[in-house]
Amino acid sequence: MNSPTDTDLLASKQAGSENAIQRVLVLEMVRVTEAAAIAAAELIGRGDEKAADAAAVAAMRKAFDNLYMDGTVVIGEGERDEAPMLFIGEKVGMGKGPKIDIALDPLEGTTITAKAGPNALAVLAAAEEGCLLNAPDVYMDKLAVGPGYPEGIIDLAKSPTENVMAVAAAKGCNPSQINVCVLDRPRHAELIAELRSIGCGVVLIGDGDVAGVIAVTDEDTTVDMYMGQGGAPEGVLAAAALRCVGGQFNGRLVFRNDDEKSRARKWGITDLDRIYKLEDLAKGDCIFAATGVTSGSLLDGVKRRRKPTGEVYMTTESVVMRASSGTVRWIRGEHRIA
Ligand code: FBP
Repeated sequence: MNSPTDTDLLASKQAGSENAIQRVLVLEMVRVTEAAAIAAAELIGRGDEKAADAAAVAAMRKAFDNLYMDGTVVIGEGERDEAPMLFIGEKVGMGKGPKIDIALDPLEGTTITAKAGPNALAVLAAAEEGCLLNAPDVYMDKLAVGPGYPEGIIDLAKSPTENVMAVAAAKGCNPSQINVCVLDRPRHAELIAELRSIGCGVVLIGDGDVAGVIAVTDEDTTVDMYMGQGGAPEGVLAAAALRCVGGQFNGRLVFRNDDEKSRARKWGITDLDRIYKLEDLAKGDCIFAATGVTSGSLLDGVKRRRKPTGEVYMTTESVVMRASSGTVRWIRGEHRIA
């Protein structure tokens, strides 16, 4: 394992505390998502979800080794007995330095990658120890809106129609000018019918609700709101991104059986009906980093290119954000292929 560089140590001093998120880690996190994205990209369109996921997991796991931190995976590939690598509780990083909790999804959009669809990402969120909700792998009902609205404008306790009406009123438009992004699933048939009955545009996505939620923060996507059920771990990742760029989010865990409820209790969740807001899912200073695997609304995917000299290389596009500063960096990488 490498020892911390001078930059690491300087950052450690600047941070003033061993456990504070260090600025140097912000950019280092991009190396980790880049490594996962490049590995998964080799398998785009090959129809093999498991192989693409395994490649991303192995590459992400290895990339963590070089980080000067005492990291713990709090949202990962599953529990220790289900996942060989990046399981919940696994220690990552050099084992010294700040104590950091990591929520990760080395390949968010396994099916997308297998089918060469849009918006597959390698993604992670990092925060000081204890600041990310240890969400069980169940569904979460999600409701999100971008920045610039009065606090509390969305409320998962209210109906989809009431939420759309509130956002339309704040925007000074009709519901017919509101676009809502929803995962295209049979379980959302009623939601989609309700939204269309009030005139909304429904932007259906096949998979990848981390990018779907983040789309509400980007005017270019024309998506105003996100609604519907997707994975709870993905909800925490999306919440970390919204903490950095602004916006509002409500999430409520959805349990399909007693086994899922007991799994949640095991993670210390006592109020099973609680509506979580951004700070309940990702509090304090946090970092969100993502690299595109396939191109989509958030990021360009990995591309293999050839220089006039004949040298082959990969390009990546990543975004990394930090909640405390609100800085968002878009990073284009060129990676030589051995
Ligand atoms: P995977 O990367 O595990 O395939 O997840 C993709 C995804 O679309 C998530 O973005 C979303 O939260 C979840 O699956 C929805 O689950 P389901 O496919 O069961 O509706």
